Amino acid sequence: MAIKSPSLLFRNFTSADLLDATMLANSSLSEFYSESLISELRDQWPEAFMVCYSGSELIGLICGSKYSRTEARVLLLAVKRESRRLGIGGILMERFENLARSSGYIGVRLEVKKDNVGAINFYRRIGYSITGSITAYYSDLSDAYVMWKLL
Ligand SMILES: CC(C)(COP(=O)(O)OP(=O)(O)OC[C@H]1O[C@@H](n2cnc3c(N)ncnc32)[C@H](O)[C@@H]1OP(=O)(O)O)[C@@H](O)C(=O)NCCC(=O)NCCS
Repeated sequence: MAIKSPSLLFRNFTSADLLDATMLANSSLSEFYSESLISELRDQWPEAFMVCYSGSELIGLICGSKYSRTEARVLLLAVKRESRRLGIGGILMERFENLARSSGYIGVRLEVKKDNVGAINFYRRIGYSITGSITAYYSDLSDAYVMWKLL
């Protein structure tokens, strides 16, 4: 996917990113993420946590995990509101998928709120299909679609 904004830095997440990453997650998603939760999740597969910076500002975040022997999973993806539709989410997904593929996974799964039409369109556009749904998956008891992509 081509980027529509120059001078962005994509790199692995470090502990210095924790505060800004947590703030981005909580301002973009309805679930609450604490710094300690993000830190604990990252410990399980540190390379699967990546950020995008524009200058000194953290504007994109992806947190991946191992789901099963064959599947990786996207736990969290967020791009700062003012920086959306520039290709950043697509690049973060591509980088995570490359990591998952080179780590031997054959697919990526994720959950998305059924009413998050923008994100569902985004995932469809990059090759994900709805494969199931989970009732009352979120803390507000709303439902999730499970989406899946063969790598
Ligand atoms: C979903 C999200 C990560 C997408 O990031 P992004 O950087 O804006 O995505 P990209 O610029 O790479 O989008 C690529 C393509 O996906 C589709 N797309 C992205 N956002 C879309 C939207 N809101 N509505 C419809 N299609 C969308 C478009 O086809 C877009 O290409 P285009 O801009 O040339 O039309 C971002 O909107 C976001 O952070 N949303 C809030 C958090 C969230 O919902 N995360 C996912 C939870 S499961």
